Amino acid sequence: MSRLVVVSNRLADPRKPAAGGLAVALGEALARTGGLWFGWSGAVDGSISPGAGRLKTRTAGKVTLATVDLCVEDHAAYYLGYSNSVLWPVFHYRLDLADFNPAYLAGYRRVNQMFARELQPLLREDDVIWVHDYHLIPLAAELRALGCKQRIGFFMHIPVPPPLILAALPQHQGLMRSFFAYDLVGLQSRADVAHFTHYMVNEIDAKELDGQRLQASDGITRIAAFPIGIDVEEFQALASAPEAIQTYEALCTEYSRRQLLLGIDRLDYSKGIPQRVRAFRHLLEQYPENHHKATLMLIASPSRDDVQAYAHLRHELEGLCGAVNGDFGDLEWMPLRYIHRTVARKRVPGLCRAARVGLVTPLRDGMNLVAKEFVVAQDPEDPGVLVLSRFAGAAEQLEEALLVNPYDTQGMADIVQAALHMPLPERQSRHQKLLERICRHDVHWWRRSFLGELETANSH
Ligand code: G6P
Repeated sequence: MSRLVVVSNRLADPRKPAAGGLAVALGEALARTGGLWFGWSGAVDGSISPGAGRLKTRTAGKVTLATVDLCVEDHAAYYLGYSNSVLWPVFHYRLDLADFNPAYLAGYRRVNQMFARELQPLLREDDVIWVHDYHLIPLAAELRALGCKQRIGFFMHIPVPPPLILAALPQHQGLMRSFFAYDLVGLQSRADVAHFTHYMVNEIDAKELDGQRLQASDGITRIAAFPIGIDVEEFQALASAPEAIQTYEALCTEYSRRQLLLGIDRLDYSKGIPQRVRAFRHLLEQYPENHHKATLMLIASPSRDDVQAYAHLRHELEGLCGAVNGDFGDLEWMPLRYIHRTVARKRVPGLCRAARVGLVTPLRDGMNLVAKEFVVAQDPEDPGVLVLSRFAGAAEQLEEALLVNPYDTQGMADIVQAALHMPLPERQSRHQKLLERICRHDVHWWRRSFLGELETANSH
């Protein structure tokens, strides 16, 4: 069995419960092959110079974690800049929020080259390398330039926009051509595969060889959708731990006379949080029977604070939430609880189970795993209802959720009202179907499918 090497911008110690299902699933596969996980340490070090990394390795059980620190300039240009002020907004269809500063692209290339340089000496001839997400698109091309012949796969966790949006990226062809250095490119949804393929055909004259392979002057790569799942067993174990049960019981007592609506996200403009607050406001205006009966809990964990668009979003949201409470709240009832803090992962199942309605309403999202966690956390005898944006990748799979258009304030308010009043048999039957699909396509299925396909892809 080949050794697995995972490369991602962030990495986590897979043995720690806070790591989450993806880290656990990758950790399991890595432990089986005595694998290596390589990425940024999360540290920014003022004493190193641009393009240099300081490699550190440690072991976590059978897995070797190899990390590099970034210098201040590289962190600014590669992480805050090109990754999160160019690729993130563009791939989430938000050209208006992109900052096409040319220094960012130079920093992005520099860090990808540095990653390749630091990683290459750690590789063995028969390793299988799995690169994750938009921070590292050119990594395989950089590794190939250093002579690496191993199989290399890439998984994109975020959506792929239509070709004309991608074409707005200055020097988009260079970036997109670098996908051909991979043997396999995995995307979240069928829509992403269609956009990716159309781009390659329209913009760089690639040919579709068969259902799954694309050929360009740069080589051949295989493209397919592998919708990511959650680690259902890990999440269920978390749900039966004391912290989740305490959280559930405390909320049930507090909301015994009210219905709880819940949103849990990173504070990110792709998540549609202001749109959700507007829809909730509309619900209170149009359906006054919900006054004193419904409370929206919005948990928005701090994220990428140093990027301007995130600071603007925070201000916007504070204003919107304050106005709802000011206009509708009284001595007995505050309609909205806005929490701009990270809530411990072990409390999440309890929060979800106590909620009658889960609001997962991104404007665009690669998949959205909170939607799947919400379903798994429910009591099958008395389940809550998932209200899901049709623009989340998860909507391709979770058809029994109530699908909404988050831009349509009135429509979303009507659907939330229907969710709050859905009869028990309908809630049960929708929940059962959703749960079955989530269990069948869990994170282990995702990992096995991707790695199985990578094993059989033609290597470079
Ligand atoms: C998304 C991305 C991940 C990223 C995460 C948190 O889920 O797809 O690659 O790690 O957001 O963002 P951060 O910038 O804090 O790593």
